[in-house]
Amino acid sequence: MLYLLFTADSFRESTLDELAKISGYKIIDEYRNLIIADLKSPNVERRLDRSVFVYSYFPIASAVKLKKGDYTEFLRKQIKKLKISKDTKLKLECYDINCKRGYSAKEIEIAIGSHLEGKGHNIDIKTPEVLAYVILLNGVCYSGSVKIQGNKNAFVDPFRRYKEKLVSRAEFKIAEAFGTFNIGKVQTAIDLGAAPGGWSLYLARKGSAVVAIDGAELDVKAIKSNSVDVIKTAKILDMENLKPKSVVHLKLNVDKAIKKLGVGQVDLLANDMNMGGINSSKAVLRYWRFLKKGGVLLMTVKCMRRNVLKYVKEVEGELGGKFSNMQLKVLPHNRQEVTLFAKRI
Ligand SMILES: C[S@@+](CC[C@H](N)C(=O)[O-])C[C@H]1O[C@@H](n2cnc3c(N)ncnc32)[C@H](O)[C@@H]1O
Repeated sequence: MLYLLFTADSFRESTLDELAKISGYKIIDEYRNLIIADLKSPNVERRLDRSVFVYSYFPIASAVKLKKGDYTEFLRKQIKKLKISKDTKLKLECYDINCKRGYSAKEIEIAIGSHLEGKGHNIDIKTPEVLAYVILLNGVCYSGSVKIQGNKNAFVDPFRRYKEKLVSRAEFKIAEAFGTFNIGKVQTAIDLGAAPGGWSLYLARKGSAVVAIDGAELDVKAIKSNSVDVIKTAKILDMENLKPKSVVHLKLNVDKAIKKLGVGQVDLLANDMNMGGINSSKAVLRYWRFLKKGGVLLMTVKCMRRNVLKYVKEVEGELGGKFSNMQLKVLPHNRQEVTLFAKRI
């Protein structure tokens, strides 16, 4: 079975090691952080889900060389081959990776979508059940489909998901983590190493009350431009009465800031501090008691290129007794790091 796999450039070798463990694989085509691989073993999808270095994957039903001539007609045929029932609520995506034919992906989606609608298909981009895609890579058109259960934000192209106003590129990482690990509503959060404020802004924009901890400054102007309140304080915080859609900044390092936390526990503990995995885990363990039981830990594990597995193992060892459901993934915007998701025991 062919799959389109998204990996991280900097973890390429580790990704291939992981794939070798999951199943025998053969690389059919590749481009930067995308691999079309032939994976043979059964239950491979479940195992890809758990893989550290593959952050998303899409099954490919057909691979056909792109020909000259009527381009949209050709792509329509590839979608038709998928034999999707006319009753199914369908969303289409064209992801032109490097074949660039002079049409935007959106134009192609509209052209194909309206044609299929004319033929009686149920095109529904708001509450789709199935995502059908054509991916153009190195002169080949790969097509396939997946069930998506009404998730209008499902995209093959990872960079189309996030179009909001940003404070820092780091904000992509938390958005990707929320999508990948299916994180639901977060009412309150503590964000360790919050500056300049990308993660805090993301959380507050979604309605959370965030305690942002960092000795460095937040980009207050950019955060406020998103209609999020920012309050700098040195007082002891009553975490049971934080205001939704706001960021409270404790401008202190993690060791000092912990003394400013008063009553209450939060739903999510975030940690994007730029320090080694062991020290970063130790900071998490100190803040552990402020996280509700079953609450989410989201942290980035900084790694040196060659030793990814060593860093991951160290952090798993440190946090293992206090957290369960641990998952690690390289997400599109991770650079020399892995994102860890876990739940407080
Ligand atoms: C990669 S940046 C975080 C980016 C942030 N997540 C965002 O979205 O904008 C790492 C931050 O960790 C902070 N940091 C490093 N050591 C820290 C410590 N001991 N206590 C608090 N913050 C620390 C740094 O000041 C820096 O702002």
